[in-house]
Amino acid sequence: MVTQTSAIAGWRVCDPVRKKEDEEAGMRSLLYQHIWLYRGVMQILYRGRAAERYRQITQLVGSDVHSVVELCFGDTAVAEFCKGRGIHWEGYDLSENFVERARALGFEAHLMDIATMDRFPKCDLIIMLGSLYHFPHDLDTLFQKIFEASPRLVLSEAVLNLASSGGLIGRFSKIMTDAGSGPEVFRFSRSTLMTTLQQQAERLSAEILEMSDRGREIIVVMQRV
Ligand SMILES: C[S@@+](CC[C@H](N)C(=O)[O-])C[C@H]1O[C@@H](n2cnc3c(N)ncnc32)[C@H](O)[C@@H]1O
Repeated sequence: MVTQTSAIAGWRVCDPVRKKEDEEAGMRSLLYQHIWLYRGVMQILYRGRAAERYRQITQLVGSDVHSVVELCFGDTAVAEFCKGRGIHWEGYDLSENFVERARALGFEAHLMDIATMDRFPKCDLIIMLGSLYHFPHDLDTLFQKIFEASPRLVLSEAVLNLASSGGLIGRFSKIMTDAGSGPEVFRFSRSTLMTTLQQQAERLSAEILEMSDRGREIIVVMQRV
């Protein structure tokens, strides 16, 4: 069991007891408990090109980047890339199994609900992949914390989702992506994601430097002006 202490005041740490209760109640997605299951699903979603996806994303990490904070990291592909480049990497995730696994590999991984963090650690770059849909109710605060901590953000978000389809497949996808607070019903479409990013850029004096539409997901680089 991972226990977490933090020197930064105001961070609420995941309560292992409550989390255990959630798991026992079957409320937490299996997907976020087993890395092999998670990787299998990613391979299906990205048609066997999940590694290529991480490669495309890590290409966006410039040579001027010395520290990366990854929010909702899940897997350790970005952490491995950073290690290879001598970049300090710090990751935050709500999944105890993913955090334990990353720590066992020697990475600085924190078990944390990022919505409860008052601020994120200062760094050269924040990376958040495929996870924005977990925070539809407080995007303003999330983007504010991101740009207070970092001048740059690399974000990817799926815009073609199984969860958006109806019937059993849609229902199953929502349940599978439950990070602990119930089936995740919200998903972005291409247009709602673009509107959100443009609004956040205007609100926080940031600009969208690069955007790549990969069909299933959109990858953007945003920079504080
Ligand atoms: C769809 S996965 C994406 C994983 C990885 N970033 C990727 O793209 O391969 C979503 C991740 O967000 C984490 N997560 C969900 N809600 C979270 C929260 N409130 N705080 C921290 N992590 C969260 C889950 O545990 C999971 O690892």
